[in-house]
Amino acid sequence: MFVEKMACSRCGEVYSVGENPLMCRRGDLGRLDIFYDYDSVGKSFDREVLSKRPPDGVWRFWELMPASKEHAAHLMEGGTPLIRADRLGGRLGMRSLFLKDETRNPTSSFKDRAMAVGVAKAVEMGVSATVTASSGNAAASLAAYSASSGLDCYAFVSEDIARGKVAQLSLYGARLFRVRQVAEGRDPTVEMMLETMKRLGWYPCPSFGPFNPYQLEGLKTIAYEVVEQMGWRSPDFILIPTGSGCLAAGVWKGLRDLYTLGLIADYPGIVPVQPEGNQALVRALRDGRSFKEVVPERWPHSIASGLLDPYPWDGDAVMEGVRTSKGAGVAVSDEEILEAVRALASYEGVFAEPSGAAGVAGLRRLLDEGYIDRSDMVVVLVTGSGLKEVDKLAGQYQDPPLINPDISELSKHIKF
Ligand SMILES: Cc1ncc(COP(=O)(O)O)c(C=O)c1O
Ligand SMILES: [Zn+2]
Repeated sequence: MFVEKMACSRCGEVYSVGENPLMCRRGDLGRLDIFYDYDSVGKSFDREVLSKRPPDGVWRFWELMPASKEHAAHLMEGGTPLIRADRLGGRLGMRSLFLKDETRNPTSSFKDRAMAVGVAKAVEMGVSATVTASSGNAAASLAAYSASSGLDCYAFVSEDIARGKVAQLSLYGARLFRVRQVAEGRDPTVEMMLETMKRLGWYPCPSFGPFNPYQLEGLKTIAYEVVEQMGWRSPDFILIPTGSGCLAAGVWKGLRDLYTLGLIADYPGIVPVQPEGNQALVRALRDGRSFKEVVPERWPHSIASGLLDPYPWDGDAVMEGVRTSKGAGVAVSDEEILEAVRALASYEGVFAEPSGAAGVAGLRRLLDEGYIDRSDMVVVLVTGSGLKEVDKLAGQYQDPPLINPDISELSKHIKF
């Protein structure tokens, strides 16, 4: 393993990976950022070597992982296609639009990349139970990876979690609890996760950096794959549906790794996309505020259930990424998000849940505002499958007519 050290993003306290730290001992909610020995990594991690490596989940990039593959479940996350979206792009007047289709992961969201690493670390540490706080996707993923590794899994999830996610979680064998939000600006699922971690010794594995630094490393692989799939070029922009900011922070970390290793010459503009009903991070970016000045959303609300974290736990890294890469934050309405769900499905055959489609809504908005040019090369992350939230999409399509097997009945419904 090539981990050099871990260091708290708030106070700078240094840890070694052998200590297996999860959170800063000073209790400051800093993230224990992981640093690698890039000189040694660079000896084997290059374009040619990678081009010969077969798919192997996140472990295809094992030199830049903080856990060992021998402890990992083999669900084969990642390796998702980068789809040339010519029909949707054409409709938007664009020449180069690409979709990174993360719905193809084992549990149908990008969270599998994170949980592959988080659970490998749990097995390495010899824990017997994992616990998470989630709107559903991270929990479903943790449940699947825990099941595959023989660990118990406990999940504290949002009150209005979609039925598809409940089914997934339950059948993977997780113990599931919906938790009510009773105080403004606070995340009750996180509070329960921390309480059970302290009292019962469960291993916390949410997709939030300050509570588990290892899982964030899995998310980096999206950036590695995008750059490799584009022929080792950076696109002009990457649009990222954003709630807690862990995904955007992971993508930013991956890009920095590639830059440090000399594998890219410049950064794509990082564009976190939040719903209008939960946009603490976007607001802080637009107002030129620092991370310390971020004000949590009091009562987050949106159709995009995965983007409702009241507080952007990894917002410090996202803000650094946006500002360094000359990106921008953007907030979109629920109507724009639902329009994006329909456009992705009907123009590209990609069925996303609302949170998963938010990047496309952000793209439309920034094209209209003139911030992104129609000639720019753009990658949009499509982060979760619509099959998980069919109940929430019920108003978006009509029930099909029931007919007898008779062509004249068909003629009542379509003209021919
Ligand atoms: C489908 C989907 N997209 C995007 C996100 C946002 O990720 P993050 O909370 O890391 O910003 C989530 C988080 O739950 C999600 O479920
Ligand atoms: Zn600290």
